[in-house]
Amino acid sequence: MTHPDPTPPTLTHTSVLAQEVLDALQPAPGKVIVDGTLGGAGHTRLLLDRGARVIGIDQDPYALTRAREADLPGLTTLEGNYRDMVSLLAGIGVTQVDGILLDIGVSSFQLDDAERGFSYHTEAPLDMRMSQQGESAADVVNTYDAEDLAAIIYEYGEDRLSRRIARAIVTEREKAPIETTVRLAEIIKRAYPGFSKGIHPARRTFQALRIHVNDELGALRDGLSAAETLLTPGGRLAVISFHSLEDRIVKRFLLSSAALTPLTKRPLIASDEEQAANPRARSAKLRTAERAPHPGGDA
Ligand SMILES: C[S@@+](CC[C@H](N)C(=O)[O-])C[C@H]1O[C@@H](n2cnc3c(N)ncnc32)[C@H](O)[C@@H]1O
Repeated sequence: MTHPDPTPPTLTHTSVLAQEVLDALQPAPGKVIVDGTLGGAGHTRLLLDRGARVIGIDQDPYALTRAREADLPGLTTLEGNYRDMVSLLAGIGVTQVDGILLDIGVSSFQLDDAERGFSYHTEAPLDMRMSQQGESAADVVNTYDAEDLAAIIYEYGEDRLSRRIARAIVTEREKAPIETTVRLAEIIKRAYPGFSKGIHPARRTFQALRIHVNDELGALRDGLSAAETLLTPGGRLAVISFHSLEDRIVKRFLLSSAALTPLTKRPLIASDEEQAANPRARSAKLRTAERAPHPGGDA
């Protein structure tokens, strides 16, 4: 898909749990921090303001264009998947860092940019690829068999009507390929008995397709392993997730990691004020951890 404008004009992204991230990562002059999900560079600006050098990674070329245009002193940008951060950083001669932030999922820029196909409300090509590479959501719904579609919708969307939705997709695509967001949303709505108002029945399937198309859970697992490798003794990791599938992966990883120790037992959540001001913050969970200091304590 080609994109008409790499910097959609009116969109904004409010960074979640910003103070909590700063408390965990303790940015300061002389520290190098990786922001593996640069997005709108909101967290990154706060880290830079406190004197840290930031290496910002994003797989979305439009996010990088925006960040590069902002020309933030102290920021190095790298295009790629944070799951590959060990090799991406090696490419610029960095093998150890003091902090890593992952604020996973999609940004408001991506969700609000209808052309990207993440939203079931606005007519757009069924795309959903953050990186603009690989299989699109349209490829998935038009080529996977019903069983595989149902598995994706069940596993990543946790929708108990997954089989029914998958059958409806397969029936409808035989009439004509499903190429737009609104057509898919309508097919799902019709497969859902008795829907009149409330959360749109397509929400879970759209989430599932997005997670699958971008291999979001695989990237998270690899990214956590990469963080273990890259963090210097005493270095800090902060991961913000937005649904239970992601949080479970982070929680289990930290519990089983010999190198990383969680800083809090429970994840941090946004204050009532933040949740009221930013609805996106309502489902956010922040888990933080520290890399074991050197055995002698001189980290
Ligand atoms: C929630 S936004 C980050 C917002 C950012 N923290 C801020 O304050 O502006 C997530 C960003 O991470 C990017 N992203 C998601 N998964 C990624 C991955 N596996 N590798 C690289 N970038 C990823 C998305 O393209 C998006 O721009």
